[in-house]
Amino acid sequence: MSVLVTGGAGFIGSNFVLDWLDQCDEPVINLDALTYAGNLENLARLQGDARHTFVRGDIGDAGLVSSLLAEHQPRAVVNFAAESHVDRSIHGPAEFIQTNIVGTFNLLESVRAYWNGLEGEAKAGFRFLHVSTDEVYGSLGKTEPAFTETHRYEPNSPYSASKAASDHLVRAYHHTYGLPVLTTNCSNNYGPYHFPEKLIPLVIHNALAGKPLPIYGDGQQIRDWLYVGDHCSAIRRVLEAGRLGETYNIGGWNEKANLDVVHTLCDILDELAPPATFNLPIASYRSLITYVKDRPGHDRRYAIDASKIQRELGWKPAETFETGIRKTVQWYLNNQAWVRNITSGEYRNWVETQYAVEAVA
Ligand code: NAD
Ligand code: TYD
Repeated sequence: MSVLVTGGAGFIGSNFVLDWLDQCDEPVINLDALTYAGNLENLARLQGDARHTFVRGDIGDAGLVSSLLAEHQPRAVVNFAAESHVDRSIHGPAEFIQTNIVGTFNLLESVRAYWNGLEGEAKAGFRFLHVSTDEVYGSLGKTEPAFTETHRYEPNSPYSASKAASDHLVRAYHHTYGLPVLTTNCSNNYGPYHFPEKLIPLVIHNALAGKPLPIYGDGQQIRDWLYVGDHCSAIRRVLEAGRLGETYNIGGWNEKANLDVVHTLCDILDELAPPATFNLPIASYRSLITYVKDRPGHDRRYAIDASKIQRELGWKPAETFETGIRKTVQWYLNNQAWVRNITSGEYRNWVETQYAVEAVA
């Protein structure tokens, strides 16, 4: 028995692969294109571990995916591979259409052919788990109830639209071809190995370098934060016991305004690594907070109603925001070399493009 994980060198995928092999000995075939977001250093501790097979390649490469499926005969495919950053999707949506829509379509076709060729228990037990996002549901007003699985799809960014399209394809492959699929829609993750283009690792990284902490617009946009280890345990649980064709929302019941998240990060950093440690001439990291131009089409609020997965599958998060965020800051402090290695080259170009605008306050 084995599982094929796609995108397993990215933030959530690498946490999932590490967690998986910490929990069991079932081998993982890890297919990842190693775009700017994929990083084999995340998987360094699996070097020489025969349970992990890394293959560099594209989910859209039908020949490669079919041969991997034929060779390893996995009992499940867990699809993390995607372009995942909203701001990048605004600057250049084409890659998002290619990987998230066309790539998922090609992957589904390869998996469908493989599944059709299975028999008996292997066929009945096979699962295709598609990892998606709460952003497909659009933006909530301040007092609206959190997203349930039946919320209308109203994606607003090229990223969320491309993920919505992939969710629809996965759904259609179940309804039309009977492919045994499961879909998870999760809220914002944070934790180790998070690429510092996203809010939480970016703020930690910039703070330690004494650089501005960019807040888009008024900083009152709300996200529902989940520690990445909890996302991984939820996916494992859905894979194990989720009902075929169903969607499960995953979230941490942790709605926070961006500005509050940044304040929390600054306060923990002030305590664990005061600015003086880095010879920074400031009393608190909070003084680095800088308001910048808002993201076009910026969704105001996401919130996940995670009661279905709790009720049906008994899953709930282990971390609170307070415990998870402290662990995360500590991880970044302990892993500065990892951050240094990825914040060169392409990363610098991105930061220059994205933050070239003047601060507005
Ligand atoms: P990430 O950008 O950190 O990692 C994506 C990984 O996919 C990278 O390793 C990259 O090399 C790989 N990849 C990209 N295109 C590929 C292709 N065509 N073929 C094979 N591999 C490819 O993303 P993440 O934050 O780890 O997100 C993983 C998944 O979870 C995505 O599907 C995303 O939509 C979803 N998700 C993310 C969050 C979040 O907060 N980060 C929340 C909910 C859902
Ligand atoms: P991000 O981490 O990009 O995740 P997403 O857009 O998928 O929710 O952003 C989280 C929130 O933080 C979002 O409302 C945008 C905001 N943000 C900033 O205010 N400044 C930044 O530099 C970044 C990257 C994000």
